[in-house]
Amino acid sequence: MKQDLRKQPIGIFDSGVGGLTVYRALREALPHEDFIYLGDTARLPYGTKSKETVERYTINAARLLQKQEIKFLVVACNTASAYALDALQNALPDLSYCGVLAAGAEASVKTTRNGKIAVLATEGTVRSGTYINFIKKLRADADVQMQACQMLVALAEEGWCDGVEAETIISRYLNELEPGFDTILLGCTHFPILIPTFRKLCSPDVNIVDSASVTALTVRDLLVARNLKNPQETPGTETFLATDLPERFARVGKHFLGCDIADRVHLTSLITSPFDFEDEDFLLGSVA
Ligand code: DGL
Repeated sequence: MKQDLRKQPIGIFDSGVGGLTVYRALREALPHEDFIYLGDTARLPYGTKSKETVERYTINAARLLQKQEIKFLVVACNTASAYALDALQNALPDLSYCGVLAAGAEASVKTTRNGKIAVLATEGTVRSGTYINFIKKLRADADVQMQACQMLVALAEEGWCDGVEAETIISRYLNELEPGFDTILLGCTHFPILIPTFRKLCSPDVNIVDSASVTALTVRDLLVARNLKNPQETPGTETFLATDLPERFARVGKHFLGCDIADRVHLTSLITSPFDFEDEDFLLGSVA
C-alpha cells in the first residue's frame, strides 16, 4: 500500500543543540507534524570546518534522516546552509529541503530602517560570504558587515547564556563592529539563546533578529503549497537524535526548549567509510 507522504515526519538538522531554536518555532507553526531532530554533537562545531567537510557531514546527516522517511528536511544550521546546499542537491536530488539563510536575510531586511545590518555568525558562514549575497538580493543598497563569533557556539552548547562570562565574550565581539548598524542578525542557530544578554549589552535602538520564525512560516507555506501538511489533528511527536552523549543533549536542550526532553533523546551514529563515501553505513539508535 502506498504511504501517505503527508504523515511522514519532518527532519531537522544542526551540528548540535542550536537548531532547537528553529525547532521551537517550527513546533509552534506546525503543531500537528511529527519531527525528528538530529544534532551531530560528535562532530560539532561545524563553524571551524572547511566547506568540503561541512558538505560531507551535511550529506551524511541528510541520508540518515532520509532513512527515517522524512518528507522534508530543514537544515537548521547556518554553516551547513551556507556551504552545503548545492552538494546536498547533487547528492540527494529527491530530497525536499530548505536552509535558514534566506529566512535570516529576509528577517533582517524587513527589520532594518537605515539598511545597516551586522551579521554575527560562525567563521565558516562569514567566510562563505553567502549572507551578503542573500541580503543584497533583497536590498541592493544594504550595508552589511559580518563578524565571526565562534566562541558563542561553545557558550550556547555549555548552557552559559548569561552572567559575566557570556557578557564579556559577547561585548568583545560587539566591540569589533563598525558603529551605525540598527539591526543585528544572529546568523547562527546557536545564538538566539543568548538574546537576553545581547539585549542587555546593545542600545535599545538596535533590533536583534534571527531566522527561526521566518523559516518556520516558510516551511509551513511550502508544506501547504505541496499538499504535504499532516492532516492529523492530534499533537505531533518529537524525537531527538544526537551523535554523542544524548544525556548532555537533553540537559542543554532543556535550556533551549524550556522543557525536559530526556525521554525523547536517542544516541545515533553517523559512520562513514574512509574509503568510499557513497558506501557509508549508519547505525541507528532506536527512534521512539
Ligand atoms: N548552529 C550552527 C550554525 O547555525 C553551527 C554552529 C557550529 O557548529 O559551529 O551555523
